[in-house]
Amino acid sequence: MDRYYVTTPIYYASGTPFIGNAYTTVLADALARFARLEGKDTYFLTGTDEHGTKIVQSAAAAGVEPGQWVDDISAKFRDLWPTLNVECSDFIRTTEERHKKVVQTILQRVYDAGDIYLSEKEGLYCVGCELFYDEEDLADGKCPTHGTPAERVKEPNYYFRMSRYYDWWTEYLAEKPDTIRPERYRNEVLNMLKKPTDLSISRPKSRLKWGIELPFDRNHVAYVWFDALINYVSALGWPDDERFKRYWPVAQHIIGKDILRPHGLYWPIMLKAAGIDMYQHLNVHGFWQGSDGRKMSKSLGNSIDPAEMRDIYGADAVRYALLREMPFGVDANIGDSIIAERMNTDLANDLGNLVSRTLRLVFTSFEGKVPQPGTSTAEDDALRGRWRGALPEVTAAWHDLRVSQAIEAVMECIRATNRYFDANKPWELAKNRDSERLGTVLYSALESLRVASVLFWPVMPERMETLRRELGTTTPRDLEEAKGWGVLPVGQALVEGDALFPRVDVKAAKARERAKFEAAPAAQKPGSEEPGGEADIVTIEEFRRVRLKVGTILSAEPIPKATELLKLTVDLGEGKPRQLVAGIAEHYAPERLAGRQIVLVANLEPATVRGIRSEGMLLAAESASGLSLLTPDGEVPPGAEVC
Ligand code: MSP
Repeated sequence: MDRYYVTTPIYYASGTPFIGNAYTTVLADALARFARLEGKDTYFLTGTDEHGTKIVQSAAAAGVEPGQWVDDISAKFRDLWPTLNVECSDFIRTTEERHKKVVQTILQRVYDAGDIYLSEKEGLYCVGCELFYDEEDLADGKCPTHGTPAERVKEPNYYFRMSRYYDWWTEYLAEKPDTIRPERYRNEVLNMLKKPTDLSISRPKSRLKWGIELPFDRNHVAYVWFDALINYVSALGWPDDERFKRYWPVAQHIIGKDILRPHGLYWPIMLKAAGIDMYQHLNVHGFWQGSDGRKMSKSLGNSIDPAEMRDIYGADAVRYALLREMPFGVDANIGDSIIAERMNTDLANDLGNLVSRTLRLVFTSFEGKVPQPGTSTAEDDALRGRWRGALPEVTAAWHDLRVSQAIEAVMECIRATNRYFDANKPWELAKNRDSERLGTVLYSALESLRVASVLFWPVMPERMETLRRELGTTTPRDLEEAKGWGVLPVGQALVEGDALFPRVDVKAAKARERAKFEAAPAAQKPGSEEPGGEADIVTIEEFRRVRLKVGTILSAEPIPKATELLKLTVDLGEGKPRQLVAGIAEHYAPERLAGRQIVLVANLEPATVRGIRSEGMLLAAESASGLSLLTPDGEVPPGAEVC
């Protein structure tokens, strides 16, 4: 039996799921479902990426331990997916023992083979991407993805001798060019291959503790990408588990274009160095932009939340819109109004209308039972031929990841069926009591819907199951069934249901979009679009609301089981000292702190962190070498205002 293994990137457990993450996951789910329709033995993996600086920073900003943070965020992803009708075979977390063990074994193997060495690393690093950049790849010294300045970092690092494998990978791609698709991304990788470089794959523990220790040097943790990429084989239980033998190397990795370098360059070379077979395909999709065609960002008000869209339109409509709107490999726009319009045109007008008018006539003319078709005409044969002819086209499109074309090919058949329906005027046949011809026309329409319910099942599994229930279908849902015609047994009872795809209010969608845009910070400053640009500006009034004061630390002590945090008492000249929880334990020993003056946000809403009340927030500068507390230039009385 053919096998199919599809993966999504494992998402950073640094924030809540975003529409982009939802897209890749829905795409992978739909691909897995199509493979199941083909009768393939299918495995679908997703999960969360839980180590690295970015995670530590997000946890610290929330005032919680990284461990607790990743548990919470990972659960948000895991819980969202079923509500979008995503059914994965496994959900991997990089903090799981099963993953750590495999990462360490692979590291040791590559080290023993002489492909890892220690050296001094100096370079430009983007914390957001967890990547080092070459100067020329930065835009004005800023990360092309995050728009934040790259930091200059210098430290002892272990290096992966990737350069040794550049020729091998270049030749491999020449021999099997469609390993990376579409072509433009393969060309990008070929460009990367022009300049052989080794890859730093560790971080000293003095800078980052939240990671997997190198088995050959416990003072370092693995670089998050070296750790994360391995999820694709650790989840299968590499090297000995039955699942690994079954589903590797038929892997179809699905990623967005932002993470081409790690998947198109590091991962193949890691596999080669570890003696693991190459994945089958790396499939790279484009990026979503807002419905206004601009890069999505909260500050522009054009960013959309998958859970909110699901609540408004239902999971399957969101899936449909996402999969239909993005042609493979290129960027596309998405937003509330785009989903609404797509729903009305394709789902309510074309598909929904065909379902409701066909079923209505079967109920009024044939007591809700599948009618007996009469002799077929050339027109009936043409319709049947059209559906049959679409099958190879649809299958090829799914195989090549041209999902929006696969959908459009089915939609074309639906439209052809509607035209057939209109041309045959079954409502007149009913009036004239021509039940033989009426039976034939309705039977053709019912069979069309049955085939559509199979071909659209990967995209809209829940709605298509409902349609199949309404059609009373009991045959197995697979491509074989879709190839057949005359499958619905005459006399079988249909089931009446609500409209599958009711029309939605596009005006309301547009109004919601406008309201979000107007409420967004950037909307008040026309022309400001980039993160870190004018969109981030606060007014002097806004700034004045923040009360910054100098305080003197009276005491500092560790918090049991919270290795990042310290409990401080601080004199702010208020008579009674304040208590604070601060995420500085990794950078400051408690005994160094008593007597120091610091700057505090004095009017921050109090919070309870790890069961301890925190009444303010201290300020510190952050850089590659860690945190540095802000202190006045000379002693001032506690409580002095910072202005
Ligand atoms: N943790 C890494 C991946 C490690 S895989 C071994 C990571 N995580 S992420 O949370 O940033 O997810 C990135 C992925 O989310 C993209 O590659 C893409 O699949 C999806 N998207 C996030 N934003 C997107 C858009 N605006 N548009 C389309 N997809 C995008 O990178």
